[in-house]
Amino acid sequence: MVTAESLFEKLRDVKVNSNLCTYSLEKCAAMVPLINAINEIKKTRNAVILAHSYVAPEIVYGVADFTGDSYGLSKDAMGTQADTIVFAAVRFMGETAKILNPTKEVLIPGTDPACSLADAVTGDQVRELRRRFPDHAFVCYINTTADVKAECDVCVTSSNVNDIVEAIPNDKIYFLPDRLMGLNLRDEMARRGVKKDIQVFDGTCYVHEQYDPEVIRHIRLKFPKVEVVTHPECGPEVVKASDFVGSTSQMLAHVAKSKSETFLILTECGLVSRLQAEQPGKNFVGSCTMCRYMKSNSLEGILRVLIKPRPEDKVTLDEGIRVRALKSIEAMFRYTEAAVARRG
Ligand code: 13P
Ligand code: SF4
Repeated sequence: MVTAESLFEKLRDVKVNSNLCTYSLEKCAAMVPLINAINEIKKTRNAVILAHSYVAPEIVYGVADFTGDSYGLSKDAMGTQADTIVFAAVRFMGETAKILNPTKEVLIPGTDPACSLADAVTGDQVRELRRRFPDHAFVCYINTTADVKAECDVCVTSSNVNDIVEAIPNDKIYFLPDRLMGLNLRDEMARRGVKKDIQVFDGTCYVHEQYDPEVIRHIRLKFPKVEVVTHPECGPEVVKASDFVGSTSQMLAHVAKSKSETFLILTECGLVSRLQAEQPGKNFVGSCTMCRYMKSNSLEGILRVLIKPRPEDKVTLDEGIRVRALKSIEAMFRYTEAAVARRG
């Protein structure tokens, strides 16, 4: 049973640049009835709640069974014995869970669960690109629809994109839809001495494209010992000016083991909230940005889909598309496991 005191204990250090993400004992007390109702109905429905680190902290610390990045959550979705998966994130993540679990019910509680990257490219566009680039291996970021994944050879996430592209036995790669991540991929391959022709599509994440290297320069002047920790959806100039680049879970793990005391975190505010809650001894400077799609998840939305989901809250996929999309996700798991085994 969650109490106002136990919830406040977890959330008291969360203070990002918005009223949405600061907590008092009174605010926690107001959330507790909803949290306990969700946790009760989860048991009766044999449901599990997966939450991306970007959603509101009361979801992460009040009701989520698993929290993480897109790779970790895909693995969690694959391993669950629950009948119902509630995916507090965005639609493409719910689709990935459904691709992996066709017989389970997958529910999406966000009221606007889009993603500017997943919306940037359609399956038809990939089919046309494959005609124009017949010799290229098509690598799609996980932030894509099932229809797009079905047209690609391998899916990747921000945690494994470099190792997978390096390992693909083809020196011609078409990477989509994130142009900025694609440019960072080109730079990383050059740094590793890997020669590949990497074509990139023209999508961007509207949250990460906003960061400017000038902000890093300014923060370094003010806090000379700051460590800059960045998501690879940011532009190449931002990435080059950073100290560490990785997926949201890799960013969390990096801060945990770093000896630095002060950090600039260049990604969505939810990750800063998690760091403040879980690593209260550290100092987080600068401001973060919010993803309106991730932040369209709420406790109310989760309770609503568990009690009475509307047709649009349920993920359904054409079986032919699902089976083809599954191949690109399974290829990702194979490449990632091989890379981990290589490292020992
Ligand atoms: P991660 O897989 O690193 O959590 O990234 C997902 C995402 O949507 C980042 O904007
Ligand atoms: Fe999509 Fe960007 Fe939001 Fe991540 S932060 S879900 S990439 S719009």
